[in-house]
Amino acid sequence: MFIYKNGELTCEKVKLSEIASEVGTPFYVYSQETLLRNFRRIKNAFASLNPVIAYSVKANSNLSILRLFAHEGSGFDIVSGGELIRVLKAGGLPEKIIYAGVGKSIEELTLAVKSKIMMVNLESEAEAEILSKVAQNARSTVRAAMRINPDVEAHTHEYITTGKKENKFGVSYKSAPAIISRIARLPNIEFVGLHVHVGSQILDTSAHVSGAKRLASLLGTLRSEGVEIRTINIGGGFGIGYMDHEKPMNVENLSRKIIPILKKTGCRVILEPGRFIVAPAGMLITSINYVKSGDQKQFAIVDAGMSDLIRPSLYKAYHRIIPVKETSSRKKIEMDIVGPICESADFFGKERRLPQVKAGDLLAICDAGAYGYVMASNYNTRRRPPEILVKGNRFFIIKKRESYDDLFKGEEFPPHLK
Ligand code: LLP
Repeated sequence: MFIYKNGELTCEKVKLSEIASEVGTPFYVYSQETLLRNFRRIKNAFASLNPVIAYSVKANSNLSILRLFAHEGSGFDIVSGGELIRVLKAGGLPEKIIYAGVGKSIEELTLAVKSKIMMVNLESEAEAEILSKVAQNARSTVRAAMRINPDVEAHTHEYITTGKKENKFGVSYKSAPAIISRIARLPNIEFVGLHVHVGSQILDTSAHVSGAKRLASLLGTLRSEGVEIRTINIGGGFGIGYMDHEKPMNVENLSRKIIPILKKTGCRVILEPGRFIVAPAGMLITSINYVKSGDQKQFAIVDAGMSDLIRPSLYKAYHRIIPVKETSSRKKIEMDIVGPICESADFFGKERRLPQVKAGDLLAICDAGAYGYVMASNYNTRRRPPEILVKGNRFFIIKKRESYDDLFKGEEFPPHLK
């Protein structure tokens, strides 16, 4: 849905340069058609299980995007009270909300219990005890699942592996049976299932398959001990092709391998995909402010910065960068594409071969629909950019660019400085 037509990069049927002249740069742009296609691709691949697809809100939590998925029947994987309120505001059904996270506060757990969400994914025994008390205080019961750390290698960036034993997530595979049999007896907790998330941006199917096998065998042990298990949640983590040579996770292949394992359990299956659905559906469009030749390098200094998209700075993540207007000249030069922020880590791409570009030209940073806007900040007192949703030949501002007033909201002078 992002293709060149007559030399101009378009999103669906809208020229990106047209959006730029209307809303200014930088901005995020999402293709509704791509969002829906990617969601449906996962839905179709796993259709024979009729799973709950709990879209992982952390990847992109814009209200319109959540509502779009809610209309598709999506559930939601959340990690904070804020995300819970967001999903409800977008029209998501509480009975399809799943709450994960290692550090849920009492306030957040109370909100979850009172909202009657589908289930809480517990990450420790201590959390289970707190949740039980919270539910008792609210005179309510709450469904809970246990997140299992399967200790499998996921071959991804060390910051986003989550299923290794040195990671902070879940309880170990070994300690799980004893912990779960205690949790299942806690008052006001209805223990329903097992959860695993092996990591993020995973391209081959083996880690997910191992994770599912581990859950299935643990489930056998638990059942033999009289613990009833009704749901099995295999998390998210399906990777996309950020680089030209990278192939996205083949979800149909994964489903062929994993469906038999999951079917045998007789459980309701839950998936928590985020990136796979939204990353390729979004771009960050930025304008070149300056082209500068250093002693060794050429720089394109753009108006977006690490405050808008932090993934390259934080994970050395690779995002393809392409010009919005195709040029006729075949000549390419090597450039670093950097932002205006006072940090050397403020870059989007290094030693990229781009056609001769000049100040004023627009560049598109690809695959920015996931962990883009949601990780943006106001560093250097910069306003966060707008988010635009394209549908066919129309585009809509689904989040306005922040105003300067927004930047000072909530700040107050103490009496001695008034
Ligand atoms: N479920 C759980 C429990 C998770 O922790 C995550 C992601 C997901 C689902 C969704 O994973 P996905 O399908 O999007 O891979 N900021 C990093 C990614 C952090 C992912 C954290 N957990 C990045 O920009 O790459």
